[in-house]
Amino acid sequence: MNKITIAIDGYSSCGKSTMAKDLAKEIGYIYIDSGAMYRCVTLFALKNNIFKGNEIDSERLKGLLDSIKISFILDEQSKKPLTCLNGVVVEDKIRSMEVSSHVSPIATLAFVREELVRQQQQMGKEKGIVMDGRDIGTVVFPDAELKIFVTASPEIRAQRRYDELKEKNQEASFDEILKNVIERDYIDEHREVSPLRKADDAIVLDNSNITIEQQKEWLLNKYKEVAKV
Ligand code: DC
Repeated sequence: MNKITIAIDGYSSCGKSTMAKDLAKEIGYIYIDSGAMYRCVTLFALKNNIFKGNEIDSERLKGLLDSIKISFILDEQSKKPLTCLNGVVVEDKIRSMEVSSHVSPIATLAFVREELVRQQQQMGKEKGIVMDGRDIGTVVFPDAELKIFVTASPEIRAQRRYDELKEKNQEASFDEILKNVIERDYIDEHREVSPLRKADDAIVLDNSNITIEQQKEWLLNKYKEVAKV
C-alpha cells in the first residue's frame, strides 16, 4: 500500500494534535508534533538563561543549538508519544504556561526554524507520517498528498487549553490563556519567516462546533479518499 504524507496546520489549541495523533494511531503512521519541538527549544532557552526579560540572546542560543537533542518515545501504557529533550521526558513541562508564553518569539528565529524544519523533513522522508504545526503544508512538506488547515474561535481554543491544564492540576487562568491564544495567533500570522497561512491546496476544517469523534471520522474519510484505501 502506498504511504502518503499528511500535513495538519492551523491555529494554536485547535485540536490539531488530538486529531493528528488519533489518525496516526488508527492508520499505523508515525505522528510528529512539530510544536513540541519549538517548545523544547523554548524550555532549553528558559533553563539556560537565554531569555533576558523579553529579549532573547540569540547568539548564545545559536551556539548551543547543537546541544539540543529532541526525540519522541512511545508511552507503553497510553500508547501516546512523549517528547524528550536531551533524553529526558518533558511532555508536561513543555505545555506549562511559562513555555507557552515564551515559545512564539523562539519560533520566529530563522536559524531555529531552519534546523527544526531540516529534522522534520528527515523524519518524513519515508512518508507514512502525520505531522502537525504551522508550516507543515507550506514549508516542511509542500508536496504532502493530504493537507488540512484547522481553525476554531479563540474562546473555544482557550477553553480547551484551560480544561487540559486543569486536568493535569496545573495553574491556569482562562483570561490569561485567552490573551495568550490571541497574542500567539498574531505572532504566528505576522512573523517574517514561515508565517502561519493556509496552503493553497489545503482543506479547511473549522472544528468550533463539532465533537472530537466527528472530527476523527471526517479526517479518516479524507485520508481514505486521498490514499485510495
Ligand atoms: O502547536 P503549539 O501550540 O504546541 O506550538 C507552539 C508554538 O510553536 C506556537 O507558538 C507556534 C510555533 N510553531 C511553529 O512556529 N511552527 C510549527 N510547525 C509548529 C509550532
